[in-house]
Amino acid sequence: MKVLLTGGSGLLGQYLNVTLSGDKEFLSLYFENTGNCHKFDSIRFDIRDKGKLSLLFGNFRPDVVIHTACYSRPEICAKLDRNEVYHLNVDATENIARLCNDFNSKLIYTSTDLVYDGSGKGLLKEDADLNPLTLYAESKLMGEIAIQRNCNNYVILRTSLLIGFGLCHSRNNFHNTFELLKSGRQVSLFSDQFRSPLALHKAAGFIGRLCEMSVSNEIINFGGKDRVSRLEIGEMICESGGFNKDLIKSTSCKTVEGIIQVPDVSMNIDKLAGYGLKQDDISDTIDLIIRNA
Ligand SMILES: NC(=O)c1ccc[n+]([C@@H]2O[C@H](COP(=O)([O-])OP(=O)(O)OC[C@H]3O[C@@H](n4cnc5c(N)ncnc54)[C@H](OP(=O)(O)O)[C@@H]3O)[C@@H](O)[C@H]2O)c1
Repeated sequence: MKVLLTGGSGLLGQYLNVTLSGDKEFLSLYFENTGNCHKFDSIRFDIRDKGKLSLLFGNFRPDVVIHTACYSRPEICAKLDRNEVYHLNVDATENIARLCNDFNSKLIYTSTDLVYDGSGKGLLKEDADLNPLTLYAESKLMGEIAIQRNCNNYVILRTSLLIGFGLCHSRNNFHNTFELLKSGRQVSLFSDQFRSPLALHKAAGFIGRLCEMSVSNEIINFGGKDRVSRLEIGEMICESGGFNKDLIKSTSCKTVEGIIQVPDVSMNIDKLAGYGLKQDDISDTIDLIIRNA
């Protein structure tokens, strides 16, 4: 099986490099950073270049394309020109979807839980109402739509907050929180924003298994088992790391000016588990992540 990965230098991409390179013919694409890509078959590649993308597909002829590359941070998208965000997150995704169709490749796309309407009580199923509030979330939803219109063999993974340690240059909120608490510094965490966090190593493992499975044309909630706030994640980090819980200051997202309120995009993950992609409780997962660090 030949697998092409976009975003190989990203937070998730670097875990995918490690997971996928073992038993598959694998090519990882990076752009401005290399991350761990130098350890694997990889090339520097701008996925906005339609002509070169077409040549790449013609040469490599992937059986599966895992498309993770994008402007992935809502706060960064908010500072960019709208067309620039669309050019990468939507237009490049549409080109990849068309090429997957032309070359009979299966497309696995990492979307986001932030496409859902997060104003309710959470534990959202795949058919729940959509209401992307940020340019980032809107562009990821438009990416989903472009894929559904242009590709006849896809899996869309509505991905939750990814927890675990970033490799090389990559950092996420989990990693930063761990470092602050470990060094005895105070950290403020929201008590009123709920997600279903998914461990990076699990996400990469599940994507590896989805490459092999005959799942097709499905949207799947790609999260963990439990609905938790960032505050609760911080408390679990303290318990597993042996850090002082008094370092955590509970805050409300309502008190931070300019922040877009998405109170609860926790997801029901029965569909994911139905494919045999099962997980432990979040406290055990965090314990394992910290023990293996
Ligand atoms: N992290 C999360 O908690 C989370 C939550 C929900 C959904 N997701 C989704 O999961 C996926 C992975 O997220 P992530 O956190 O791993 O993202 P990330 O760390 O920001 O990585 C983004 C990747 O996109 C690449 N990229 C950017 N511009 C490019 C271009 N013009 N051409 C080619 N590659 C380009 C980057 O390459 P360089 O770094 O080399 O420039 C990097 O490898 C994304 O689709 C995101 O929407 C993530």
